[in-house]
Amino acid sequence: MSAPANRLSVGGLPLEALADRFGTPLYVYDAAAPREAYARMRRAFPRAAKILFSLKANPNPSIVAVLREAGAGAEVASIGELEIARRCGIPGADTVFAGPGKTDDELRASIAGELASVNVESRGELDRLARLARAAGQRARAAIRVNPSSGGGSARVAMGGRATAFGVDEEAVPELLRHAAGLDSIELVGIHLFLGTQVLEAAGCVEHLATGVRIARLFREVVGRPPAVLDLGLGLGVPLFANDPALDLDECARLGAAPLAELAPETELVLEAGRFLVAEAGTYVATVLDRKVSHGQTFVVLDGGMNHHVAAAGGFGNSLRRLFPIRRLGEAAGEDEEVTLVGPCCTTLDQFGSRLRLPNLEVGARIAIQRSGAYGYSVSPLLFLSHPTPAEVLVDRGDARLIRERRSTAALFATEWGEP
Ligand SMILES: Cc1ncc(COP(=O)(O)O)c(C=O)c1O
Repeated sequence: MSAPANRLSVGGLPLEALADRFGTPLYVYDAAAPREAYARMRRAFPRAAKILFSLKANPNPSIVAVLREAGAGAEVASIGELEIARRCGIPGADTVFAGPGKTDDELRASIAGELASVNVESRGELDRLARLARAAGQRARAAIRVNPSSGGGSARVAMGGRATAFGVDEEAVPELLRHAAGLDSIELVGIHLFLGTQVLEAAGCVEHLATGVRIARLFREVVGRPPAVLDLGLGLGVPLFANDPALDLDECARLGAAPLAELAPETELVLEAGRFLVAEAGTYVATVLDRKVSHGQTFVVLDGGMNHHVAAAGGFGNSLRRLFPIRRLGEAAGEDEEVTLVGPCCTTLDQFGSRLRLPNLEVGARIAIQRSGAYGYSVSPLLFLSHPTPAEVLVDRGDARLIRERRSTAALFATEWGEP
């Protein structure tokens, strides 16, 4: 039987007690959730040689370590993420560097780290990688990120199939493949596709797989051999909002079997996932600081808002501008009420929801925002208004431990104030 809404727990530990112990604002993560999500992906896609965790979703080293232990590699998008992956024991052979705007330093680090692939986003980037690899006396493994002309319409937030900063338009891919195949300091390993995030229908996932297989065919026609790697960031989603369906991964796998059967046996299928692996693990907890009524509307003011969890305040993509699951912790003294939930930042954007029906929220009461493990802490403007940052706690096998300290304003400004 599940616990009543106000008795929420994470990994078997009551959230109220965790908030008392660690204070708020607070992110709490359940280590069992990424493990389970990873196992679900593994079961559904036995054909996948590698499952990579996209660190951008939650780069806390303790979260990365949980996924590494489960078997995941890393998809990184900066030299910082590359360093986190390395320190978490993820070898270069299980790491892929993707994303636009790679600096020379990032490309050099990728070459030196002998990454599984650098997923290049343009001809300019490919040529820079080739030049830097030659200068280092090495060969760099590269995949071409493709922006397919069709086949990516079902992501809630689409990042391909139209004019975009990501990847190389499909029409230009044959010429770029021929060019890449002729570069002696480049080992052309294959292709990469990431078409968008928060895919919730099996059909969308299958469309993405089928598009990948189609581009793999194009690679074979142009290069004369199948790609060694087909790297797909499927954008697997989780139900964040009321009426969102839960993605049926087994259905994805069942329907995806036909297109995948076409893939040459020597082509390694690599899958990237961020949100799917960690979103459900995380809960954000904040405390009510104040209440007020304005023009008949009740405002409940929390000790954290968009500065800590910009996605829940609707600030991370149009399609995500809806309500996350919000619960009150503990017993409410009064009746349910209609409130607008705001943070302490001086902008009307700082709102977790308006006119929400919630149990009475007196000063000192706590709220929990669930499914906050992905794109929470990592995408939020933590320095806005110079508040202390939220602490992060991991619950694993019945134990809770601090995995990132709350940073005081003094700690955040130590360098500026000359107080190292
Ligand atoms: C190249 C690439 N791979 C993977 C991801 C992770 O996406 P998701 O969190 O939807 O799995 C992203 C997200 O932006 C990305 O750009």
